[in-house]
Amino acid sequence: MSKIKTVFQCQACGYSSPKWLGKCPDCGAWNSFSEEKQSPKPLRSFGLSEPQPLSKIVGGRENRTLIGIQEFDRVLGGGLVNGSIILIGGDPGIGKSTLLLQAVAKITEQQSDTELRTVLYVSGEESPEQIKLRAERLSIDSDNIILLPETLVENIINAANDLKPSAVVIDSIQTIYTEELTSAPGSVGQIRESAAKLMFFAKRSDIPVFLIGHVTKEGAIAGPRVLEHIVDTVLYFEGDRGHPYRILRTMKNRFGSTNEIGVFEMTDEGLMEISNPSELFMSERPLNVSGSTVIATMEGTRPLLVEMQALVSPTTFGMPRRTSMGVDFNRVNLLIAVLEKKAGIHLGGMDVFINIVGGLKILEPAADMGIISSIVSSFREAPIDPKTILFGEVGLSGEVRAVAQGEARLKEAAKIGFKKAIIPKNNAGRLKGDLGLTIIGVKDVEEAIENIGN
Ligand code: TYD
Ligand code: MG
Repeated sequence: MSKIKTVFQCQACGYSSPKWLGKCPDCGAWNSFSEEKQSPKPLRSFGLSEPQPLSKIVGGRENRTLIGIQEFDRVLGGGLVNGSIILIGGDPGIGKSTLLLQAVAKITEQQSDTELRTVLYVSGEESPEQIKLRAERLSIDSDNIILLPETLVENIINAANDLKPSAVVIDSIQTIYTEELTSAPGSVGQIRESAAKLMFFAKRSDIPVFLIGHVTKEGAIAGPRVLEHIVDTVLYFEGDRGHPYRILRTMKNRFGSTNEIGVFEMTDEGLMEISNPSELFMSERPLNVSGSTVIATMEGTRPLLVEMQALVSPTTFGMPRRTSMGVDFNRVNLLIAVLEKKAGIHLGGMDVFINIVGGLKILEPAADMGIISSIVSSFREAPIDPKTILFGEVGLSGEVRAVAQGEARLKEAAKIGFKKAIIPKNNAGRLKGDLGLTIIGVKDVEEAIENIGN
């Protein structure tokens, strides 16, 4: 019999080493190593032992089931692929369990006479009574949602093999363990082995499996970056705890685009889909106040209009303060420097605060024009025309650069009732036809600022 081998694994990133280390050489985490038994079995395969030509392989096996929650189906790339394994990460309390309970309820509702749809909901965190309480709140009651309070992966797979459900939900993968390893549930080895077993179950049985994953302080799915390799799809459920809006975002998708988002609102009766987020974000906007602009941004393939606010006020301390919420802090500093140097707007003695309304985060550079114009508007106490939208990237020499999908952004703005758009000159040059907006193409920051006044 071979000797049982142990390795030391970093609980943050999965790096393994034959001896204990104080600091992980891979991710730099301190005191993150713990001893684990080495995985006893070699990697399993799908049973395709012979090399085959690509042309001989029969494809088109991608059968999909619609969940019935449009925003969710779209994020998955047009429904749930049979046999796929989907990881959903998010901060504690953001609504992951709620989302999946609503999703499984929808799945079971769609059963026909020929097809009985059941779903296995495995909870390692909450008791069936707790889940029942949540279900009551969501007005969900069904004979076909089968709850299983279990954390041993072998038992879960046996139960799923007996039940043959339409989908399996594991809430959460960090509580699941396999008998084969002696390390504690939640350790990297356990998570990886359990997820691998569930993956093989999904592929063999053609049943889709959802894994709920916790997120670390740094915002990555806890422990296993390794998990992200195993699963087919990685979704993040994000939002600001103080706001009701939640965004479901794809980080990886073997069966669809990673450019999709789904927007939800958390209400007293659970998550509601928001099919027209722009309208919602515009509804509470104060009109004719300084420092507020509307930018047309893209979330994947979807245009989204959001309000950006700036507050510029004389600093009362020696060092001016710069704070940004929803946009990159360094980007704001860079744009303030561009304004100083290229447009002669002196903000050296000013505190600058930037905020995106609704708790959204915007990472694309097309928001630059919004940042610049809201700062200028607040600095000059001059409101921007409420029917104007902006977008465009700003370069270090103050030039305004074109961004992708200008037309989609403008169409969305016209739909919501905007009248004027200040956009990069190059974007304006490419437009075809009348979009129902007055288009002003600008080539640099100075020109943009001239045009934002009422
Ligand atoms: P939950 O799904 O338990 O979050 P997670 O599984 O991501 O940890 O949701 C928790 C929060 O959602 C909780 O703070 C209460 C809130 N909530 C509502 O506002 N309305 C509802 O209908 C439900 C079920 C939860
Ligand atoms: Mg939960």
